Amino acid sequence: MDTLLIRFHRQYMQQISNLTYPPSKLLLEADVQHQLYKHFFDGPLKGPPAYQRKVLKQIISLIERAILDPEEDAVSDQLMEHMGYLSSLPQGDPSDQAYQTQIITYTLPEPLDASPPPPRILIEEAPNLLAAGSNVGFRTWEASLHLAQYLHSNPDLVHGKKIIELGAGTGLVSIICAGPLRADFVLGTDGLPHVVESLEKNIYRNRHLLVNANSERSNLVSKVLDWGDVDDLEDNLATDDGLPDYNLILGADITYSPDVVPVLAQLLKILIFDMFADTGLEALISATVRNGRTLSIFRKACEERGLSIENVDLRCSSVMEQKGFFHEQAFPIVLMRIRRL
Ligand SMILES: C[S@@+](CC[C@H](N)C(=O)[O-])C[C@H]1O[C@@H](n2cnc3c(N)ncnc32)[C@H](O)[C@@H]1O
Repeated sequence: MDTLLIRFHRQYMQQISNLTYPPSKLLLEADVQHQLYKHFFDGPLKGPPAYQRKVLKQIISLIERAILDPEEDAVSDQLMEHMGYLSSLPQGDPSDQAYQTQIITYTLPEPLDASPPPPRILIEEAPNLLAAGSNVGFRTWEASLHLAQYLHSNPDLVHGKKIIELGAGTGLVSIICAGPLRADFVLGTDGLPHVVESLEKNIYRNRHLLVNANSERSNLVSKVLDWGDVDDLEDNLATDDGLPDYNLILGADITYSPDVVPVLAQLLKILIFDMFADTGLEALISATVRNGRTLSIFRKACEERGLSIENVDLRCSSVMEQKGFFHEQAFPIVLMRIRRL
């Protein structure tokens, strides 16, 4: 496939809303239209009908605009028939879509012409979720994609490490660390049992990517870990083989509310200073800056506990430049490195 089509396909499989459509001249080619039908619309896991309909409508319109000689060029029968099929389906109520779960396919941001193609991670989630409260863990947020992209570009941060992810939500970051980025062990945690249940399903869905996929002992385990509940911390962090000597904490979009950041800072202090002082444990936390106040509270709470926070310099590429883990930045995203002062 042409690399422009490959990027478009990776974006489409992630069901992003602002797709980078290939030039209409390319879409006009009969062979390209056949590939579009085969890879985008034919068979399972190709996105919900409403999404397919929106994308196919735009593709058809781009092709129609490029047609100069209707005797020579046309929209293929396969694409037209599929559009007819999609249009015949019930439209559904858009307000229901917020809570509907889909299987989203995330592609590792490897070169577009990589051979073999990069691994894909399948995550069941509610991609249109906007709500706060106990549902926030059911969507993969931009800060998670940003952190995943950063770790993918800096694989030594993860390779061979023992990692705790806090507020893992759907589990994308834990899965790429335990899988393609070859962490020694990852404990993916979240405070809410129903979020951990869906995290477990996502781990199971991607088990073939894990380091020891064929062994009984997985290198990715999920557990409930509420930041405010530190009484059983040692038990919660232990595996059947005892307490791993963790050396990295990861978190994405876990500093989103002023109510949660003081307990999070206190947990980081306990982990970094008290429990794992000998392993040089430090944290990398990505945060979407929706308002500066929450992050200021978090920074202050960390500093009061003797933790230093430094911003990691990271270049944010646009969706058009990204090759996978596509994400927009309606709000800035920062990456913080937190360790002992
Ligand atoms: C905005 S979501 C981010 C999820 C995921 N890291 C991502 O970026 O896609 C915040 C996550 O933190 C979890 N969380 C919030 N408060 C928590 C607490 N006190 N203890 C543990 N987890 C908590 C939520 O359940 C949710 O999964």
